Amino acid sequence: MTIGISDLAFATAHQVLDLQQLADVQGIDVGKFYIGIGQSQMSVPTADEDIVTMGAEAAAQILARHGSDGIRTLLFATESGIDQSKSAGVFVHGLLGMGEHCRVVELKQACYSATAALQFALGIVARDASEKVLVIASDVARYALDSSGEPTQGAAAVAFLVTADPALIEIEPVTGLHTDDIHDFWRPNYLSTALVDGKYSLAAYLGALEGAWNEYQSRGGFAFAEMARFCYHQPFTKMAVKAHDRLCKIVGADLDKDQRLAQISASLELNRRTGNSYTASIYVGLLSLLEHDDADLAGERIGFFSYGSGSVSEFFTGVVRPGYRELLRTARDAAVLDNRRPVDYPRYRALHESVDAVQGADFETAAETTGPYRFAGVVDHVRRYEKLG
Ligand code: HMG
Repeated sequence: MTIGISDLAFATAHQVLDLQQLADVQGIDVGKFYIGIGQSQMSVPTADEDIVTMGAEAAAQILARHGSDGIRTLLFATESGIDQSKSAGVFVHGLLGMGEHCRVVELKQACYSATAALQFALGIVARDASEKVLVIASDVARYALDSSGEPTQGAAAVAFLVTADPALIEIEPVTGLHTDDIHDFWRPNYLSTALVDGKYSLAAYLGALEGAWNEYQSRGGFAFAEMARFCYHQPFTKMAVKAHDRLCKIVGADLDKDQRLAQISASLELNRRTGNSYTASIYVGLLSLLEHDDADLAGERIGFFSYGSGSVSEFFTGVVRPGYRELLRTARDAAVLDNRRPVDYPRYRALHESVDAVQGADFETAAETTGPYRFAGVVDHVRRYEKLG
């Protein structure tokens, strides 16, 4: 039996800040952002958008195509949790009107947890091939204003359906794991922005790649040359370039710079415009690869490296299924990015500061989003969401 992903959908926040604005305010050459870290824009949530509204927008596309019958598990991966007890997935389950015979749970381990959700989903389907698992990964990446992490913020969500005989990509069983108790990036409960040791986090990511790859090989994984494309976690797109260069060095691949880039460049298109989306980022990368690679990838093997600070990481592979292109929503996803409302720097800064200002109190949000779901505010400590239209 083959198991994998049968559909993959995307959502992001409905405002955008071009990093030229940030460069102007900081008085630096925008080349540092556009080229140095490989980011052109970041998605900026309106006051009435969050991980639930983005996650619901992504998942609604899956349910519109497949219905919710047979989905008995909803796994919600995030590190931007909105409640310490209740899963963000239960809010989405309610907004989408899913049936009551469904287990819903939230998973956390920095950016890695969507891959944990995928692996758990594969196990559920392996036990009973009639099961379908809906995975949602949704995050708002936030660093302190005026910090070096600020240009690597962003927001996005994906939803994907894990089934037997998958229509989009089969996920293969051999994986390589790597865990290390470190503090490269973390967010204490009392902070709304992440703390990060930037340069150390890059080294930790690359070290974890080597560790996960080595275990993948020792467990009988495919050779590097048997993989046509690679998809990395993308805190910023240049990180994937650095990671692929490192993997090529580890395996001694005789590829020049253009050949190395050709194996990953299509996977960078969407992330370059959304910014980091933590748990969603690697699967936004997969969608970007499928939508933007000119080559027919049917039958081709993709190597994945999922990294979550702290740190847990995994190397695994998947094989793209014939007919995958018919399942993509390429024009819709491009329009969603193009139609985001531009915000200027003062508005972006005010929105960033307002997140901390409203902690711990009841409040109403202004109606701003142009998306299909909105976060209306908090009444008696309960978060309220609305479906629009
Ligand atoms: P920085 O120190 O301000 O930047 O922060 P820099 O001085 O290292 O410059 C960045 C690059 O731009 C360099 O290129 C410069 O040479 C280049 P590199 O040497 O690295 O190839 N540059 C220019 N290029 C062209 N034209 C110019 C120009 N000027 C400079 N004019 C840093 C960079 C990434 C450290 C910072 O943004 C940061 O701390 N970001 C957050 C942490 C992060 O994303 N870490 C990644 C690994 S950890 C991870 O992936 C997990 C994570 O997603 C969280 C989770 O798991 O939940 C973060």
